[in-house]
Amino acid sequence: MNSEIKVFLDKISKENRTILTYEESRRVMNLAELPLNKMKLAENLDECILKANEISYPIVLKIVSEDVIHKSDSGGVKVGISSDEELQQSYEEMLINVKNYYPNAKIQGFSIEEMVNGIELIVGTSTDSQFGKMIALGIGGIFVEVYKDVSFRLIPVTEQDVLDMIEEIQGKKMFEGFRGLPEVNTKELISLMLKVSKLIEAFPQIHEMDLNPIVATIDGLKAIDARIILK
Ligand SMILES: Nc1ncnc2c1ncn2[C@@H]1O[C@H](COP(=O)(O)OP(=O)(O)OP(=O)(O)O)[C@@H](O)[C@H]1O
Ligand SMILES: [Mg+2]
Repeated sequence: MNSEIKVFLDKISKENRTILTYEESRRVMNLAELPLNKMKLAENLDECILKANEISYPIVLKIVSEDVIHKSDSGGVKVGISSDEELQQSYEEMLINVKNYYPNAKIQGFSIEEMVNGIELIVGTSTDSQFGKMIALGIGGIFVEVYKDVSFRLIPVTEQDVLDMIEEIQGKKMFEGFRGLPEVNTKELISLMLKVSKLIEAFPQIHEMDLNPIVATIDGLKAIDARIILK
């Protein structure tokens, strides 16, 4: 699996690119055996409808564009779409809203995704000029910008490090589940964090990796957004 990741990242570097597309970021995650929700790409409305029926409603529609930095801020994420008609309407609205927000954005297409429900976590890695590779764990989704409830460690991390990181999160009570949402499976979270840590150790050319959010679903953890940036 590591050799496949190497070939894949080398190819992108040779193209003089540093920012992986959504699909490429997900590919690396897949190769690293990190959990993801179901996702299919589509280029036009007909394809969107086809893929949505393959995944089966309700689905999420997302814009796919290298120029769109913040999908939800620009109207590029629509959750809970439950019919072909609703999908068509969301599709048309999304194109207008994103083009309003990013007038020069080139739109590569759309992603059709399985809906997931649960507490949102964030896992991220960064490269500090002084300390080197860092890993972060915290409460994700919309709250990450509001509370910055995130714990950091140097890579590599051990199982005990991850347990300590969880303890440092102020909102860790959320991990027990609330409002009927499933609890965060600690064992699974440790395994995910160790995989991320190992991935960055093996591939220091990964400058930044942002899994925001990872959702604690009833079927376990699933990342529903991924961004990887190379050196
Ligand atoms: N598959 C999904 N199922 C349920 N909710 C989703 C799904 N995908 C996205 N969402 C909701 O929409 C929010 C934004 O989604 P996403 O992270 O893909 O977009 P974003 O705008 O790129 O976020 P950011 O710019 O902060 O990274 C998520 O935090 C989540 O609440
Ligand atoms: Mg996101």
